[in-house]
Amino acid sequence: MKIRLDKYLADMGLGTRSQIKKEIRSSQVVVNGISICRPEVKIDTGQDKVIFHGEPVTYEEYEYFMLNKPAGVISAASDCQETTVIDLIRDRKRDDLFPVGRLDKDTEGLLIITNNGELAHRLLSPKKHVDKVYFARINGRVTQSDVDNFSRGMDIGDEKPTLPADLVICTSDEVSEIRLTIREGRFHQVKRMFQAVGKEVVYLKRLRMGSIALDESLKPGEYRRLTEEEVERLCSQERKP
Ligand code: URA
Repeated sequence: MKIRLDKYLADMGLGTRSQIKKEIRSSQVVVNGISICRPEVKIDTGQDKVIFHGEPVTYEEYEYFMLNKPAGVISAASDCQETTVIDLIRDRKRDDLFPVGRLDKDTEGLLIITNNGELAHRLLSPKKHVDKVYFARINGRVTQSDVDNFSRGMDIGDEKPTLPADLVICTSDEVSEIRLTIREGRFHQVKRMFQAVGKEVVYLKRLRMGSIALDESLKPGEYRRLTEEEVERLCSQERKP
């Protein structure tokens, strides 16, 4: 891919376009061993060797992170009042990152963060039926009859009933613990499914999305880059029809 030198450096988080232009004009950038003073020079991102202030800068078209979202932050790219999930990704290079889908403010767990719009679109497409696995605590006893209702698909007040979902009861007591696999991503879906059987979700955490499982070593608020293998798995799995 060929892009302008100033965009190359700005995309890698080294300053705003105008700051970078000044740096380039004051001879702080070397490309393939030659000092370059023109911001508009085209760089081949896969071939050219770019040095900024004496340090090599490799270009990353896409960044991919796994965040263990903590309760209390919102799933948005930016917000003028509230802390967003993107604010938590401190060592990001790109400024065009966004969360793949949304978790409610009080929900914890796996959130994939990237700037790869095509991948996000495929992961979120209602036609793809990508599995999402949640752990939840529910006020009240979850029963086999709930399991049966969830497995048939249920009316939660939308135009269409939900797709069949797999509900597994881990413990059933005054507060029950469950695992639920759904294949859609409707607004407040897990909470509304339990409401439909007269129960309330008191804690919700996403454990898995498609082929990516939450790394349980990440505490709420912590994140890591996806490994190359995870990115490859995600891209190839979600490419399937
Ligand atoms: N379902 C919900 O109700 N909330 C979430 O955050 C995710 C799924």
